[in-house]
Amino acid sequence: MVKVYKCMICEEGYIGDAKPTHCPFCGAHDNYFVPVDKYVATDVGELSELSKNNLIGALDVEISNAEFYFCATKKADNLADATMFKRLAKVEAEHASTIAKMLKVASPVISRDKTTCNINDADNLKESHEREANAIERYVRFLNEAVEVKVKMLFKALIEIEKDHLSLSEGRF
Ligand SMILES: [Fe+2]
Ligand SMILES: [Fe+2]
Repeated sequence: MVKVYKCMICEEGYIGDAKPTHCPFCGAHDNYFVPVDKYVATDVGELSELSKNNLIGALDVEISNAEFYFCATKKADNLADATMFKRLAKVEAEHASTIAKMLKVASPVISRDKTTCNINDADNLKESHEREANAIERYVRFLNEAVEVKVKMLFKALIEIEKDHLSLSEGRF
């Protein structure tokens, strides 16, 4: 019997026999999923100045990475890479809107027409690796600097997700 689950990171719902291993929308691991009737909505509350600035920085990272992956999707040499890049683009776009929600600002516009990527998959995989490594490094610092429970949870989850993304390009360029 299917049930409805809810992701504590992106707050999207999921319908299935069991919770997914990874959120199909934001990539959060299964420990962030709860049956929807057990879900308790909490507000992030007042953000410290430092967390606000770090979230604004993270929002920029996610928008830039989403636009890069949409570009890489269009330039992909084969269906497998196009499928991977498109999914990465959508996950990063979900991260951007999750962060915007926490900042209580409008969901960002993600351009699908940027030409800021390379023309072949090997170079885009290399750039993907650099972008994910950079995101992880920044989010580790943002996690350490956060005092708010919800901000800590978000950066902890994002680090795990970006590490998953990093592993996709490992040994491929
Ligand atoms: Fe999610
Ligand atoms: Fe991300």
